[in-house]
Amino acid sequence: MALPGAAHATTKPEITLRFSHVVAGETPKGLAANRFKVLVEQRSGGRIGVQVFPNARLYGDHDEMQALQLGAVDLVAPSLSKFGRIGLPEFEMFDLPFLFDDLSAVRRITLGPLGQKLLNGLPRQGLVGLGFFDNGFKQMSANRALLEPGDFVGLRMRVQASRVIAAQMRALGARPVTLAFSETRRALATGVVDGTENPVSNFWTQNMHEVQSDLSLTEHGYLGYAVVTNQRFWQHLQAADRDLINQAMQESLAFANQIADTQNDQALQALRQAGTTHIHSLTAAQRVRLRQAVQPVQQQLTQRIGERWMADLRLALRKL
Ligand code: LMR
Repeated sequence: MALPGAAHATTKPEITLRFSHVVAGETPKGLAANRFKVLVEQRSGGRIGVQVFPNARLYGDHDEMQALQLGAVDLVAPSLSKFGRIGLPEFEMFDLPFLFDDLSAVRRITLGPLGQKLLNGLPRQGLVGLGFFDNGFKQMSANRALLEPGDFVGLRMRVQASRVIAAQMRALGARPVTLAFSETRRALATGVVDGTENPVSNFWTQNMHEVQSDLSLTEHGYLGYAVVTNQRFWQHLQAADRDLINQAMQESLAFANQIADTQNDQALQALRQAGTTHIHSLTAAQRVRLRQAVQPVQQQLTQRIGERWMADLRLALRKL
């Protein structure tokens, strides 16, 4: 449905923004990107176009950030776990297992001064951060239930390129294997890796349920994103266009945060109906044992994330 004030665009856009991402269209990120496209095109009367490239069709985890830095795309929204390898290891604080009790704790960081401070570091890499948004809490999958630390021993678990997540898997006795998101399903199918972690919306929309017999609802960590653009590109935009794009993005991120939970719930429901995969809930005692097993990760990774960042984090979460 057209939004108020929308014009009918028949002419070629004067500016086209290319928004590349690695997940499916029906995920919180995919839906936010599509919403952003609609808002920008309608509000600019078609003068600013947005092309969305989902599912790593244009660039995957290995090259999307570089493509952005080189100006080959204008917007990407990598998970916060993927900023460490471009020289911003402080973003890996979000990967610390069992850090956030709920999404309101996440907001204390992403909408507070610490979130702003994280975004302020992006120009060091030629980037500008437009904001954060959620996917949600991660679950563990494999071809067996993963309920106790002992269940992970010897498994090769696919991880994102985050040293914190790698350390988490090691603390559980598993072997972390870093792979791009777009390669994960195939690696699970061929036995290159045994298991992985992700919120259910990613698990379901990549058809990982076809190749994993068990999903354990561990909720052991958070997956969120930052939308970033190229600093040169951003500075060259007219101020009014920058405002329009930024406003549309802020609304799209708020929308993503509103729907993320529902998307994950719906994916879990669909997964139950598909009947391919055993879904396990953890008892409180099992969760405590997993939490205890990964406890050393905070200490081990403090130096990588940075003492100051960790102190700010604890303060923001009132975990002193
Ligand atoms: C992953 O690589 O597992 C996820 O971060 C993919 C995504 O962007 O949600």
